[in-house]
Amino acid sequence: MDHFDYRAGYLAAENVPIRRIAETVGTPVYVYSTATLERHFRVFAAAVADLGALVCYAVKANGNLAVVRALARLGAGADVVSGGELQTALVAGVPAERIVFSGVGKSEEELAAAISAGVMQINVESEPELRLLNQVALAMGCRAPAAIRVNPDVDAHTHEKISTGLSENKFGIDWTAAPRLYARAAAMPGIRLNGVAVHIGSQLTCVEPFREAFHRVRDLVAMLRADGHSIDTLDLGGGLGIPYGNEDGPLPSPVDYAAAIRHALADLRCQLILEPGRLLVGNAGVLVTRVLYVKEGTARTFVIVDAAMNDLMRPALYDAFHHIVPERQPACGVVPRVVDVVGPICETSDTFAAERPLPPVVAGDLLVIRTAGAYGASMASSYNARPLAAEVMVSGDAFAVVRERETVADLLARQHLPPWFEWPTP
Ligand code: LLP
Repeated sequence: MDHFDYRAGYLAAENVPIRRIAETVGTPVYVYSTATLERHFRVFAAAVADLGALVCYAVKANGNLAVVRALARLGAGADVVSGGELQTALVAGVPAERIVFSGVGKSEEELAAAISAGVMQINVESEPELRLLNQVALAMGCRAPAAIRVNPDVDAHTHEKISTGLSENKFGIDWTAAPRLYARAAAMPGIRLNGVAVHIGSQLTCVEPFREAFHRVRDLVAMLRADGHSIDTLDLGGGLGIPYGNEDGPLPSPVDYAAAIRHALADLRCQLILEPGRLLVGNAGVLVTRVLYVKEGTARTFVIVDAAMNDLMRPALYDAFHHIVPERQPACGVVPRVVDVVGPICETSDTFAAERPLPPVVAGDLLVIRTAGAYGASMASSYNARPLAAEVMVSGDAFAVVRERETVADLLARQHLPPWFEWPTP
């Protein structure tokens, strides 16, 4: 469910015509719907309410301040993976005691920043990180609240590039080796270890891998408690998939996901932490782009648009499917053409859709790439010296630019010639 619908023949974000945004702000532009964000948070929070779980939004999915703020206003915590995301969450008003710091390679500075901010928990992913955290905390005269992220060796049955819970993945400590590390941690005066964390991958389209992982966590908690450790928090990560439009069947709902958690873990009397990212923001965002040319090739017809893989890299990186719809509602009975929708970047992978039936378009038309709210703007780059796209948030009849379009001057401003080069004469 989202709030992007055709109204009187034109696509609107809530009550704002997409065309108005494109004409005011230019293209490419990301457009986020506040009502959709809020709805997704409420549906998820309601599904897990009886579990007493803390919902920590995974900021990596979309780190726009306004998006994080929209969720923080509803009581969301945050899952952050860098000093930058930690700052973003704090500036967006997420209380430190609802922030979890995850990630396989936190620097000493990031660990210190997390401790001094007073985050709820730092999820440690290796023994050397545990030792460093101990040192950093002792130097600061405190004990760092920590959990160990375990790798349950479960196949998430998702794209291999976003699967994280197999033993060959770099994430977490092998769950069978975890008890040894808990024993070592118990002897470290700078560590207050009180939890287990797990995250097996993203865009999971069935519940079974979650079930498997949660049962391993359950077994592990029993072992750790038998060894005398007090385990009070269970961070179950994120990963619940969303419909992009090319799935084989219905996806598990937050209610199904909550049932899997309840069944495996509810009686362990732990504070549960959940880290949904995509589920909260994916369908709440679209990428609006303008058609530059329609190029009739010998084998294919290319619709060349002004957005590119630097703006939304999911199709190039994961062969991800995103629905693409025209901003102007196609008339009934219009015959689609099979086209490739491509960007201007000099790579064949700069393709948003290959051999996709689309209502006929001409240069100047607007196209809307759906389900782009998660891992869209947050993964953008300025490849080909293309400034980052603007981001807009809509609420009801109103819209506001929540990230200004970058300029080429911005791109050049932080670059310098070495002193042994003279500037070229203009
Ligand atoms: N927690 C941890 C520790 C994570 O690593 C992630 C995502 C999440 C939570 C949130 O997962 P979600 O609920 O969004 O599935 N760029 C890829 C997705 C990478 C996900 C990385 N970790 C994509 O565009 O599909």
